[in-house]
Order: sequence, then C-alpha cells, then structure tokens
Amino acid sequence: MMCSRNLKISVVLILVLVPIISSLPRNHNRNHTLSKRSTFFDLECKGIYNKSMFFRLDRICEDCYQLFRETSVHKFCKQDCFGTEYFMACIQALQLDEEMDKFFTWRDTLGKKK
Ligand SMILES: *[C@@H]1O[C@H](CO)[C@@H](O)[C@H](O)[C@H]1NC(C)=O
Ligand SMILES: *[C@@H]1O[C@H](CO)[C@@H](O)[C@H](O)[C@H]1NC(C)=O
Repeated sequence: MMCSRNLKISVVLILVLVPIISSLPRNHNRNHTLSKRSTFFDLECKGIYNKSMFFRLDRICEDCYQLFRETSVHKFCKQDCFGTEYFMACIQALQLDEEMDKFFTWRDTLGKKK
C-alpha cells in the first residue's frame, strides 16, 4: 500500500538523517557564543576598532544586564554602537560616572560619532 511505503521511507530517512545531524560538531557551542558575545560589526560601529575599548564598553553592558536581568537593557545598551541613553544609564547604574568622559570618547572612536 502507498501509505505504509511512504511511512517506511520516512522511517529510513529519519534513521539516516538524525545521526548525521546530531553528529555535526557545531551543535553544542553555538548557542552559547551567539547569545553572549557581540562583535564590532554586530553593533554597526563605523569607527576605529580598538579591542580593549570595545571589550570594556561591551563589559559595561554585560554588567548592566547582570544588574537588572532585563534583556531589553542588554539590547539597547549596545544599540547603535553604545549610542543610546541606555548606555549612559548603565554607566550611572554601575557607578562609573568618573570614567564616563573616557567611555564616551571611546564610544566616539569606535562608532565614529561627532
Ligand atoms: C542557550 O543559551 C541560554 C542563554 O545563554 C542558556 O540558558 C541555555 O542553557 C543554552 N542552551 C543550550 C542548549 O546550550
Ligand atoms: C586602544 O585603546 C587603549 C586605551 O585608550 C590604548 O591604550 C591603546 O593604545 C589603543 N590601541 C590601539 C591599537 O590603538
């Protein structure tokens, strides 16, 4: 019968495909790195890339997120290459006011904003 033949094909396909898919090496780490780290290009920074500057600013947003446990904070803090008011709010929330001018200068370097 048609029906059971199709079923048989499906079963064979599943038996063959599932081991192949689950043995692909990427499955494990992918989620972790993708959800956690942003890159210079993800954030649409258009200025000069300086790793130590970038990671410091990125860290501010990570710490801010840890503080509030709010995904929108995480997202908006980094938006436009740290260009929103959330970024400033995070600096204040983390009590880094004294370094604020420096961070803004860095942001301008990274994001090429006037
Ligand atoms: C995916 O990432 C989230 C957030 O980092 C984590 O809670 C979850 O356990 C991860 N899932 C897998 C399958 O690694
Ligand atoms: C990156 O920025 C840091 C901090 O301002 C500075 O010390 C370092 O020289 C810069 N690195 C490059 C490659 O410009």
